[in-house]
Amino acid sequence: MTNELDFSARSTNTGVDSQFIERWSPRAFQTHTISDDVMRRIMDAARWSPSCFNAQPWRFYTSTESTFNEFLALLVEANQVWAKDTSIIGFLVAQQHFEHNGKANAYAEFDSGAAWMAMSLQARLEGLYTHGMGGIKADEVAKYLALDTQKHKVLMGFTIGKLADLHTLDDEQRSKEVPNQRKELSEVWQTR
Ligand SMILES: Cc1cc2nc3c(=O)[nH]c(=O)nc-3n(C[C@H](O)[C@H](O)[C@H](O)COP(=O)(O)O)c2cc1C
Repeated sequence: MTNELDFSARSTNTGVDSQFIERWSPRAFQTHTISDDVMRRIMDAARWSPSCFNAQPWRFYTSTESTFNEFLALLVEANQVWAKDTSIIGFLVAQQHFEHNGKANAYAEFDSGAAWMAMSLQARLEGLYTHGMGGIKADEVAKYLALDTQKHKVLMGFTIGKLADLHTLDDEQRSKEVPNQRKELSEVWQTR
């Protein structure tokens, strides 16, 4: 954990592993090149996620150095402002039909979300952060990636990068880099 970060909103007394608390979504990133080996581990974490019928409906598309600006332009402006400093921009796409019978896979988005979380946790283990984005130009993403939208749905965008050195941020920027709170456990979990 970076010492300067204020995790006070994230107090918990259950003993949950700190990896879940320390995954959060920064907006202040620093210039950093992610090696191919690290990227392969991050994406491999996603690959091992569970899925209905083991269909593995997630498809990840990530930028390279030469396509980064094209990916950046596919985000809404409010996300471009901060995402321009990340290392990699990606889009998560769900394959909407089962390959074994062609029927609609009602769990494709659910399973893709699980894969996204796995890659996010592996990114943290690599000293990196992901930041998910609904604020993308989804139709343009589909065109850019040449997707058949009958078969593939663009779910979200994400960034992967290295948190900025907080000392380099001004007070206003730094005040935004605070991991946020959650609902109480009792609001989201009941025994019956
Ligand atoms: C599917 C999804 C879409 C999101 N869209 C955006 C977005 O467009 N812009 C943004 O700044 N953050 C976005 N976020 C980040 C969320 O606001 C953030 O995950 C949430 O507040 C919880 O905070 P944490 O990730 O720091 O724990 C998105 C996250 C997810 C998972």
